[in-house]
Amino acid sequence: MAKKTMTLIDNRTGKEYEYPILEGTRGPAAVDMRSFYKESGIFSYDPGFTSTASCRSQITFINGEKGELRYRGIPIEELATGHSYLEVCHLLLEGELPTEDELTAFDLELRHRSFLPEGLVKLFEMMPDSAHPMSALSAGVTALSSFYYEHLKLESDADYREMAHRIIAKMPTLAAFAYRHSIGATYIYPDIDRSFTENFLYMLRAYPGGKMHRDPDGHRKIKPIEVAALDTIFTLHADHEQNASTTVVRSVASTGAHPYVAISSGIAALWGRAHGGANESVIEQLKMIGNVENVDKFIARAKDPNDPFRLMGFGHRVYKNFDPRARILKTLQDQLREELDLDSELMRIAQRIEEIALNDEYFIQRKLYPNIDFYSGIILTALGLPRSMFTPIFVIGRTVGWIAQWIEFRKDPEAKIARPRQLYVGK
Ligand code: CMC
Repeated sequence: MAKKTMTLIDNRTGKEYEYPILEGTRGPAAVDMRSFYKESGIFSYDPGFTSTASCRSQITFINGEKGELRYRGIPIEELATGHSYLEVCHLLLEGELPTEDELTAFDLELRHRSFLPEGLVKLFEMMPDSAHPMSALSAGVTALSSFYYEHLKLESDADYREMAHRIIAKMPTLAAFAYRHSIGATYIYPDIDRSFTENFLYMLRAYPGGKMHRDPDGHRKIKPIEVAALDTIFTLHADHEQNASTTVVRSVASTGAHPYVAISSGIAALWGRAHGGANESVIEQLKMIGNVENVDKFIARAKDPNDPFRLMGFGHRVYKNFDPRARILKTLQDQLREELDLDSELMRIAQRIEEIALNDEYFIQRKLYPNIDFYSGIILTALGLPRSMFTPIFVIGRTVGWIAQWIEFRKDPEAKIARPRQLYVGK
């Protein structure tokens, strides 16, 4: 039987080094090179970790070539169409979908934990009105680590659960308060009669006293189709294995810092335009393009190697065929078109970009396809959500993934402090 090892030869000396090959349950194998430096005195060089597996994980699996995404083994298509976001949270945290009783208990617990410590609400007052909700959100989550300092020491599974449920429950409230502060509006406290996702829309939209916007035929309610669409968006963002922000969360976990500080660092990493910030940038870019006639000009700019302009919502480090989350959102967008007010000019520009890019040699050669952010920005606009809240919505969905990965890291006997090496080229 062939040996499950890989041999590296240093061609300068002819010396051979042999390393075990580790097989996962799905996806490529990995060469275990942990002793490489000790044995050879050489580092491996891999900027951006394009070929490096940094951990073993049982949470999320992606096959970028096939456009496949699974949480705990279940395909994303099945979860997005057949299960609620809270069921998906339970799945990511516990490894199994909940029973009906477990779901009821989880739902109620999150409702009751959705309130913020009153002292923390004052934190928002110190921010300028113009503060982007992402900055207030990151600061709010860091502050939460002072209110729940005891989560620094987690001993039992019950401790881990309490810490995880608390941050998942409070994230929509923090995000909604951050937004209300940014527009100088009164905070709306959570309403425990409402579900996780509906409550978030309520906290963004309600008037004091819990009243909703009035129109001539009475109170305008939050439409079930809006809640369902946002719930699906949360599910699609819930986890994405070792992406940039999750890697940051795991790196902070590796130093033994408080879990909420690790989540706050994840929020900071997600904010960038190359990551979660892309959903806000997609709409800014569509508005900048302005009308369908200008699309060709911007496509030419995206292809020009001397122009830093990139098409926001296109490309992905892992997906090289299609992004399955984008496919689900495209279907959702078509369903919503009949029920909601989708901005027709934005839609026309987006459709034109999609058509050109999918048939253009530059994009085909580089395997650049629309990603989740290309469609989520359009859907969130149709739901009447403010653009500055697009990335905080990504945060709400992703919190469960970050915390599940944080817990996995903390319980991993092989986990070590994140400490890459460098190839020094200075003086
Ligand atoms: N528009 C034009 N050209 C692009 C784009 C784009 N959006 N993305 C990549 N390229 C080109 C890039 O210039 C390079 O070309 P060349 O080989 O001629 O130098 C080639 O494609 C490979 O790009 P790369 O930067 O090496 O790819 P990467 O895997 O390091 O970057 C990415 C992935 C997502 C950061 C990048 O595609 C990008 O910046 N996209 C736009 C931002 C965006 O939509 N981000 C959201 C990602 S999905 C949500 C999430 O999970 O965060």
